[in-house]
Amino acid sequence: MKPDIQPNKIAVLTGAGVSAESGLPTFRDSHGLWNSYSWEQVASPEGWRVRPAAVLEFYNERRRQAWLASPNAGHEAIASLEAAFEVVVITQNVDELHERAGSKHVIHLHGELAYARGTSEARKRYRIDGEPITMGQLCEDGTQLRPDIVWFGEEVQFFEEACSHVAGAARVLVVGTSLSVFPAASLVTMAGARAQKVLVSLEVERLPPGFEFLRGRAAEVLPALAAKWLEDERVRIAQA
Ligand code: OAD
Repeated sequence: MKPDIQPNKIAVLTGAGVSAESGLPTFRDSHGLWNSYSWEQVASPEGWRVRPAAVLEFYNERRRQAWLASPNAGHEAIASLEAAFEVVVITQNVDELHERAGSKHVIHLHGELAYARGTSEARKRYRIDGEPITMGQLCEDGTQLRPDIVWFGEEVQFFEEACSHVAGAARVLVVGTSLSVFPAASLVTMAGARAQKVLVSLEVERLPPGFEFLRGRAAEVLPALAAKWLEDERVRIAQA
């Protein structure tokens, strides 16, 4: 059963583009990570089995960069919406820039760089901030530590929860994602028929049905959009 739509709820689905202006590379743009690295080698269970040191090196560099990065005006605009709305940020990103910008409710579908975990089923997580993981560093259950990242072929985290937030939102905002990785991309199909749906990106291959496309950089487009939605909400409440 679909949850009721809450008039002041916003679900925000973000991808690498929202962090691009913080200096973190995207994946599929011309300078994207998957142009320089093979995801099969550095972001898959098979890559980890064959060359674990190369996988650690790849994520150690991602973690170092993410730790040094700061949120941009796009992250800040999303956080500012909490002044009047219930906002849930559902991100494919493994950085913490939404949290650092002030977003209180962030769901990380693809894991987080700032955590390591063991390789056993228990999946105990350890906070490591910006520190590297090295070969031979073990979890307390004796297994090698690995990044707390969802690799290709592994199960996305918190997906059911994310679906229900999108389905219950009066506004769905999608930012800086190519919508090419599933199941995260399928979240756009959960949006209610009457929800206001907006996609902000530099380009879009297939605009999901019912979405308005705002072309531009997140850090430029989102502050104006957030200001408009905050004003619309102020008027809605005043007229209620
Ligand atoms: P992509 O690199 O596939 O897409 C980034 C999108 O952001 C593109 O559509 C760009 O046009 C857009 N973009 C770039 N700069 C932007 C800016 N300044 N403002 C707004 N939009 C901008 O990244 P994702 O869709 O996030 O998963 O990729 C999804 C998943 O694929 C990632 O989480 C990662 C990757 O493989 C795993 O590693 C499991």
